[in-house]
Amino acid sequence: MKIRIPATSANLGPGFDSCGIALSHYLNIEVLENAQDWKIMHSLGSDIPNDATNLLIQTALKVAPNLSPKVLKMTSDIPLARGLGSSSSVIVGGIELANRLGNLNLSQKEKVQIATEMEGHPDNVAPAICGDFVVASYVDGEVHSVKHHFPMCDVIAYIPEAHLLTSESRSVLPTFIPYKEAVQASSIANVMIAAILNGNLPLAGLMMEKDRWHEAYRKKLVPHLDQIRSLSHKVGAYGAFLSGAGPTVLILSPEEKTNQMVHELEKLPLSAAINVLSIDQEGI
Ligand code: HSE
Repeated sequence: MKIRIPATSANLGPGFDSCGIALSHYLNIEVLENAQDWKIMHSLGSDIPNDATNLLIQTALKVAPNLSPKVLKMTSDIPLARGLGSSSSVIVGGIELANRLGNLNLSQKEKVQIATEMEGHPDNVAPAICGDFVVASYVDGEVHSVKHHFPMCDVIAYIPEAHLLTSESRSVLPTFIPYKEAVQASSIANVMIAAILNGNLPLAGLMMEKDRWHEAYRKKLVPHLDQIRSLSHKVGAYGAFLSGAGPTVLILSPEEKTNQMVHELEKLPLSAAINVLSIDQEGI
């Protein structure tokens, strides 16, 4: 049995803790055989446990405590702690593992609910499960989400070498935002979503760069964001924004501008990988 979970990018600028897209990097899980104890074969580094303490197994056993141990194989090209949903992919993988091994027949809505309760916000786990573009709210303990087709474009990921933990990136956010500012922030997000639904990427990209919820506070942790945004304007890409909690920056680009955009990004002094991705439309 094989499970494939896409990477994700949360927020898309103003859709903080609510909007996300699924991307064409993947965590792959394969069930190899029955065993006495849980074992995960992987080459993702010595920091990642290869026994029952791994988040994947912990998650699966929370969902289906009576699962019998297996040997699993895990591979992933989702970079860790870079704002591309690596830990969400493991949580979603654990839920799907429990679902299949335990024959739970969980609906997509149930998977999104369980994953959001574990993660605390739906904007990575929902697109990882459903694919494509998902808008979700997690209010009064219940998730409501809508999946929609994201307009065709290239997604350029500028992935700095340095890690940034979500907890650190959330610790710089304010406790309160003045009412007037919150109203503006919400109107920006509303227009961004409406523009995506209309296939209007120039307007969506403009709104993605006007976030008032988080980017201004996080800028000190991601000083490269403004520089990349200037390059994106110069080249004529749709927009550049922090991917999730950062430090990765995503640039949405018309296909014909992608080579030029990548070329400009390569000139930046920061040590980073530059990957051209597409939207994953399937999810798990
Ligand atoms: N919405 C979350 C954040 C995504 O920006 O903190 C990262 O997990």
